[in-house]
Amino acid sequence: MTTVTPALRLTGDGAIRQEPLRRLLLRQVAEMHAAEKDALQVLAELAAAARSPRLGLLLRLHVAETREHITRLRHIMDRHGVPAGTLGSRGKRGLLEDCIELACSEADDPTVRDTALAAVALHLEHDEIASYQVLRMWASQLGMHDASDAMGMTMGEEQRLESRLIQWSAAHHRASQGRTAFRTGE
Ligand SMILES: [Fe+2]
Repeated sequence: MTTVTPALRLTGDGAIRQEPLRRLLLRQVAEMHAAEKDALQVLAELAAAARSPRLGLLLRLHVAETREHITRLRHIMDRHGVPAGTLGSRGKRGLLEDCIELACSEADDPTVRDTALAAVALHLEHDEIASYQVLRMWASQLGMHDASDAMGMTMGEEQRLESRLIQWSAAHHRASQGRTAFRTGE
């Protein structure tokens, strides 16, 4: 039977123990490091596949930012003696697989394909934002302020891409509708 993770055991006064939470945080940092490395490959492929110059640029810029995110995570791991693993979480790997499927789903229509590529990037970034929110909160609770600051900086960059992707998607949809109206003489 699955038991509650030891990292969430409470002390007598109801507070979460610091050392188990620290171990949990560092394990999640290593998982995030592996997940970002996988995401880096996928983002580069999305950027190469994008037909819209603006979407391609947004994704390429985020490839460069993601390299920096990996470096920040690696610094935290080095500082705390965490070895780099190669396996991200099952959930993140599953998300990546779903995203790749989505990106390939409308290969015949370049306009819809770009819409799918942006949706894939949104899925990935939204999940990363949630992960960094949690990691930053735990680091802050543990007094690991350097790690908390690094996580906050990365989260801000993920959120910026997310809002730019939403803006791009809205503009792309408006432009597609305009083209359709022009073709049909509406
Ligand atoms: Fe990201």
